[in-house]
This record gives sequence, structure tokens and C-alpha cells, in this order.
Amino acid sequence: MSVPHSSDIRDFSKLQENPFLPALEAQRAQGLFRVPLELDGAPGKWIQCDTAVTSEKRTSTRCLNLASNNSLDLAGHPPLLHRASEAMERAGTGSGGSRLLGGSQPLHTALEHALERYRPAFPARRALVFNTGFQANLTVVSALGEALGGVFADKLAHASVAEGLRLLPRSVPFHRFAHNDLDHLETLLKQHQPKSGGLVVTETLFSMDGDHPPFEALCALQKKYGFWMLLDEAHSTGAYPHLHERGLAGIPERTVLLGTFGKALGSFGAYVSGPAEICDYLINFGRGFVFSTSLPPAVVGANLGALEALTDPGESWRPAKLAAISAFARAELNRRGFQTGAAVGHIIPVLLGTPEEAVTVSAALLRAGFHAPAIRPPTVPAGTSRLRLSLTAAFEEADVLSFLDALEVAVQDIAGDPS
Ligand SMILES: Cc1ncc(COP(=O)(O)O)c(C=O)c1O
Repeated sequence: MSVPHSSDIRDFSKLQENPFLPALEAQRAQGLFRVPLELDGAPGKWIQCDTAVTSEKRTSTRCLNLASNNSLDLAGHPPLLHRASEAMERAGTGSGGSRLLGGSQPLHTALEHALERYRPAFPARRALVFNTGFQANLTVVSALGEALGGVFADKLAHASVAEGLRLLPRSVPFHRFAHNDLDHLETLLKQHQPKSGGLVVTETLFSMDGDHPPFEALCALQKKYGFWMLLDEAHSTGAYPHLHERGLAGIPERTVLLGTFGKALGSFGAYVSGPAEICDYLINFGRGFVFSTSLPPAVVGANLGALEALTDPGESWRPAKLAAISAFARAELNRRGFQTGAAVGHIIPVLLGTPEEAVTVSAALLRAGFHAPAIRPPTVPAGTSRLRLSLTAAFEEADVLSFLDALEVAVQDIAGDPS
């Protein structure tokens, strides 16, 4: 039997013997079937995207993009494009190997030094570049978790953290604490007392809820129990105030930061920033670092350009505008009766309830010219299906207001639809 192309997979009757079908059918029956939506062009405020696709024709519409993680709107910024092409012209299209086997170029080292300079308040830290945030989380959680004798991860930490936990040897226990619930974390710490302090994993801006942990209380707990912390700042790097701007005197000792270049920095790749011995440990024992071809020159060049933009006073309007437009959107949503949970930044959940409600509202919005994707279980807990808005510095208040008007209509339509 030939392997079905994904477009044929909908014709389930032809594929009865296929072992993948039961899971796909169940996914469809629960309203959870996923299909990637094609968006043409750089992920700016406006995108051209498919609103209907049949075997005969595709209909695409110009949509306002409320789903991009390109929060600082840097993905098409000319200096990044210039840095990318300059690096590629100089160093080729591929790095040629893993960092330990010939794929370490001066560009990679320059990027790590630029990351170290980007955090001048914390000079004792070193940086290490990874290929993706997913790979970095897998690597750091499994390698450091094993060395530290156990892991305690926030229940809503990213899927890549969960995958890292699965890579731990059986002898190393891991626990999930209720989201942002430090009492629960403390109970688990008391119960399990990991032999080398353990690793606590959380995010500085949660990817689906847009909230953050109580940092000061977390640091106080760290002082009491002596654990190490992995703070995943994938969504806050450059886009949401640094930890020291949020009331912490500095990054606490025994803390590893992990961030990505693929979101606010408008490019691709990831980094870890931490004490020198952590970086050396990951270079030696982090399998996702050791056994993977390093980032290609164009990407490293764009990343350098992104860090330059973050430290350029002429570009400081970007995070400021992002914060202002996000505050405006949250306030307007709440004023119109929508629930946005504990969101504090540019990631704003609009809680709707069932997967069907979320999908129906999202589809109606798409037809009306707004791309605001539905997020359903298992990505988020049952009963909290939602639209996940991720705003960017390119948004104006008028954009937000036009979206909210369309959202109100879409929600009223499902409320009035008895089916
Ligand atoms: C919190 C968090 N960590 C890690 C990742 C993975 O990063 P990347 O997309 O670079 O693999 C993501 C991406 O969605 C994320 O939201």
C-alpha cells in the first residue's frame, strides 16, 4: 500500500487498515483535528491566508494577524535581513557540522558574546547557542535534571519541558506542581528532597496564559531549599521587562535562563545563559547540543542583528509600544466581558470553553479577516479552549478595536446558534 498523502487522509473509508486512523478519527470526533494554515509572506501585521480550500480552488484573504510571536515586528526588519545575507555571503549556507565537529564558526562565538553583553547587569553569566528552544529545553531539563537528582516543573510549562522529563533516566524522579502554585511546589520539595537540590522549571511569561510566576516568592523558596532554577523566557526576551525590572535585584544564583530567537527577536534558534560551569556541562553532556548541526550563518547573522536592535535606543519604541497596545487590548477585552485570565503582557488568552466554541469563533473571525487561532486540549487543559492572541508592536488601537467588534459578532452568533 502506498503511503497516503496528507490530503488523502480525510478519505478514511479507503484506509481502514491504516494503524494511524483510530487516533486521527478520535481527534476529529473531539473537534481537535489540526491542519496547518498557510500564511504567505513575512509574519507582519497583515497576512494573506487561506480562508477556504477545496480540491478545485483555494480562497485566500488579507487578514489581520493576531497570532504571530514576531512580537517586536523584527522578522522583516532591514538590518536583520542585511546581517543575514552578509553572514551567508561570507560563511555559506550551512555550518557544516555540530559545534564540536567543525560547525563552530566565529559567528556562533560572536553571538554568544553578544548575548553575554546583552545582560550587562549579570556579568558572571555565559551564553550557549542552541538550534531551537524545543531542543534546548529537552537538553537542559534532561541533562541538568539528572545531575541535580530530580525535576519540579510547573504544570503549564512548555511541551518541550515535558519531553525533557521523559528523557530522564528512571532513577531520576520528576514532579509537576500546579500552575504558579508555590505552596504545592514547597510540599513536593519537602516530600521528595532531591539529593543535589533538584531543578525547578518555570516560564517568565507563559506561552498560552500570558502570566508569570511570583518571582520574589520563588527566589525566597530557592534560598530556603537550595534548588537550581530553569527560567524559560522564550516569550519575554526583549518583549517583556527583564527580571531585574520586575523587582528582583538580579538573576538569582543557580539560575539558568533559556530563550529563543524565533519569537520577539524575529529570527530562529535559542540560547541558554547561566554560570560558566553550566555551559561547560551542556557542551560536554547535553546531547541536543553535542549531536546536532549548528545554526547556519544566515540565521546567526539575523540573530546578531536582532540583539543589536534590542540594544539600539532608536528601536526602544518597539517594546514600549508592545506593552501599551497589549494593555489596551486586555482592558478593552475585559471591559467587553471577555475573560483573559491572569495575562499581563502581549500573550492574551480569550477563554471560551469547549474546543467547538473556540474553533467556531476562530473560523468566523478568519472569514471576517482576522487570524486568531483556537487553542484546544491537549495544548491547554479541558474546559479552557480559547483564542490565543499574540500582539505585536505593529498593532494600533484601531486594529484592536476592529478585531474586538468582529469577536463580539462571532461570539453572539454561536450564542444564538442552537446547534
Ligand atoms: C515557552 C516556550 N519554550 C520553548 C519553546 C520552543 O522554542 P522553539 O520554537 O525555538 O523551538 C516555545 C515555542 O513555542 C515556547 O513557547
